[in-house]
Amino acid sequence: MWHNVQAAPADVILGLTEAFRADGNPHKVNLGVGVYQDDAGRTPILQAVKEAEKILVATEVSKNYLPIPGVASFAEPVRELVFGASHPALREKRVVTAQTPGGTAALRVGADLLRKFLPQATTVWISDPTWANHKGVFAAFPQKAYPYYDPVHIGIDFPAMLATLATVPAGDIVVLHACCHNPSGFDLNREQWDEVAALAAAKKWIPFLDFAYQGFAHGLAEDRYAVTKLAETGLDMLVASSYSKNFGLYNERCGALSVVAPSENEAAVAMSHLKTVIRVLYSNPPAHGGMIIATILADQGLRSQWEGEVTAMRRHLIDMRRLLVDGLKERGVNRDFSFIIRQNGMFSYTSLDNRAVDWLRREKHIYMVAGGRINLAGLTTKNIDYVCDSIKEAIAG
Ligand code: LMR
Repeated sequence: MWHNVQAAPADVILGLTEAFRADGNPHKVNLGVGVYQDDAGRTPILQAVKEAEKILVATEVSKNYLPIPGVASFAEPVRELVFGASHPALREKRVVTAQTPGGTAALRVGADLLRKFLPQATTVWISDPTWANHKGVFAAFPQKAYPYYDPVHIGIDFPAMLATLATVPAGDIVVLHACCHNPSGFDLNREQWDEVAALAAAKKWIPFLDFAYQGFAHGLAEDRYAVTKLAETGLDMLVASSYSKNFGLYNERCGALSVVAPSENEAAVAMSHLKTVIRVLYSNPPAHGGMIIATILADQGLRSQWEGEVTAMRRHLIDMRRLLVDGLKERGVNRDFSFIIRQNGMFSYTSLDNRAVDWLRREKHIYMVAGGRINLAGLTTKNIDYVCDSIKEAIAG
């Protein structure tokens, strides 16, 4: 069967990790995949997670299947985390939530749910650029890009973004990064989100928010601004959230899909179909990650401990941004990198072109995603000088 089939290319993000692992050079640095690391280069298990696991080991009595939408005590606190406990949409009971195997599955379950009910011509609009996996996740839909990153002025081309979104027909799906835009790191400000929400309401498109980095830009509450604004419009809308990053539960695969409907009855109908979509894809989600999150969010002490750990991760990322900008400036590189401070979250679009990206990988064993995206958490106080020296050389060459 495979004899005449050409091999698929490696994944542009996860494939980099495979190449990095196979690289024997002692100076190698992985600035590719979005995984948090501390200054010792470790991806630690959060203390709150460890404590919750102790509770689970002591109290868990069965490995029976979960219900199709996941751990029973997961949906409500997660919804409150995503939308804010006092959001009117929650009071009106018009949001339903299913636990999913990671944020990727949340996006895919949402895509499959929408595909079942929307007309064939429905287009998915994604930002230019966007997370490399969005195209594949939404492969069942025709896709178009809306302008986002402006490489000339290094920031968001908001007028161009808005002008294109103004042309999106009612019923089309618009994928928006709720915070910590991946890959650029540039987020809309609150006034700009207000404009996007007003446009969505006027044009009646279906916003689909990818919310994978809550807590990594400004704070758990601050980072949900886009979600809360769009959910206030009363539109049909979806939110895919991930707990890989802010709970550090990468390999437990835990995320959530929340479907916002105009009324409680419609939300219940959405949930009934959500269950049928999940049933054929993976039947019901793995339990461990969901149980950890439900345990942490239900316990005031564990919850504060976890919030403190999210704050520490965010501060570390901000410190690394500063270290990189200062390190490049001290070396007198002939380019202003101060924009890196204005970006949010794990990623920076560095403005390094693919020639520099390839050269850094080949000559310096520094791995970054094509297009010049780096993960700030891959930097440490040990490798920062090497990275800054190498970038200086890459630009000069
Ligand atoms: C990333 O963009 O690096 C992360 O979201 C991890 C992934 O699955 O691509």
